[in-house]
Amino acid sequence: MTNREIIDATDRTQVGVYARFPVAFVRGEGARLWDADGKPYVDFFTGLAVNNLGHAHPRIVAAIREQAAKLLHVSNLYYNRPAAELGELLVAHSFADRVFFSNSGAEANEAAIKLARKYGAEQRGGRYEILTMLGSFHGRTLATLSATAQEKYQAGFQPLVPGFRYVPFGDFAAAASAVRDETIGILVEPIQGEGGVNVPPADYLRRLRDLCDERGLLLLFDEVQVGMGRTGTLFAYEHDSIRPDIMTLAKALGGGVPIGAMLTTEAIAAVLGLGAHGSTFGGNPLACAAGTAVLRSLLEDGVLDNCRAMSERIRKRLDAIRASVPMIRDIRGVGLILGIEIDRPGRPLVATALERGLVINCTADKVIRLLPPLTITAAEVDEGLAILEDVLRAAS
Ligand SMILES: Cc1ncc(COP(=O)(O)O)c(C=O)c1O
Repeated sequence: MTNREIIDATDRTQVGVYARFPVAFVRGEGARLWDADGKPYVDFFTGLAVNNLGHAHPRIVAAIREQAAKLLHVSNLYYNRPAAELGELLVAHSFADRVFFSNSGAEANEAAIKLARKYGAEQRGGRYEILTMLGSFHGRTLATLSATAQEKYQAGFQPLVPGFRYVPFGDFAAAASAVRDETIGILVEPIQGEGGVNVPPADYLRRLRDLCDERGLLLLFDEVQVGMGRTGTLFAYEHDSIRPDIMTLAKALGGGVPIGAMLTTEAIAAVLGLGAHGSTFGGNPLACAAGTAVLRSLLEDGVLDNCRAMSERIRKRLDAIRASVPMIRDIRGVGLILGIEIDRPGRPLVATALERGLVINCTADKVIRLLPPLTITAAEVDEGLAILEDVLRAAS
């Protein structure tokens, strides 16, 4: 099928919820993609922070092939080896003692919200309220949408799930003064992704940790977008030398195979007893085999070092471009989640870049977001940035 045939078939049959660009990708390798008409692209987007190891990574491909030929699915009424292996790896390399597997970021956050509520009910005298941040994004299910403090996603879906209250992101005093008797926890993205690649002040997350300790609250980190090496450490919380009580992962965890995970400590996990939560596909052998391959590669193949080095390379070049492109208002981010805030809507620039063979993204209307693979080479970075520079200059 050509690009056009795929686009027409999709637009004829699927619910129209996505503002898609008119391209159908059919193949990828590393930081390269090809569309159905054979045109190549440099990928600075990785399917929205999913393909952190690039496309068709040999370790992921081999793991999926091998597992698919052995066993695709059992049921959580039985044990399975890939889930056991991935659970052990996640526990060994994070703050957590316990993992619950889901299939997406929203479901991981649902599990985190339910766990916080159950902990409040059983251990904290019935507290239930969770503070979340303006500009956050936690998913599209009703509870995670209610946690997501952005009206544009909530419009038309009221009544929302009660039990969430919103405070400004990065404002510690606002969070501290919002805590009341009903509050059980604070849910925060260490860096807001969809909200515009918003990096909080340096001591913000640490102060939230202290606040939670002082007031007996749970600190919940949504690392769905920034976990799995994206910021140059395996998990974003490592930058602040603190530990959350609950953390959620998804996106890059499966390298492209749908999977999510909610991680927590032994003591907190204990409130979710037999039958308290579950999922048919959660801990699926195929997804967990892919997850194990992803995590091993992140840990063993120098990927985090490359992420940090390529981040520096991109930042240097962007700073140089900024000096002579006045439409750029700010450049921010950590590792390979980078935002270029401009003075106008970014979507037309994203469309032009795509025509020129570079896949980038725009979020929060005016923030060009770069999410290249953590495995990207210096030559690929330079190739993509040359296109980006042209596009920015031409629009200035
Ligand atoms: C921080 C964060 N949390 C949760 C989600 C929801 O994940 P999913 O789309 O897999 O449900 C996203 C998706 O963009 C996200 O960026």
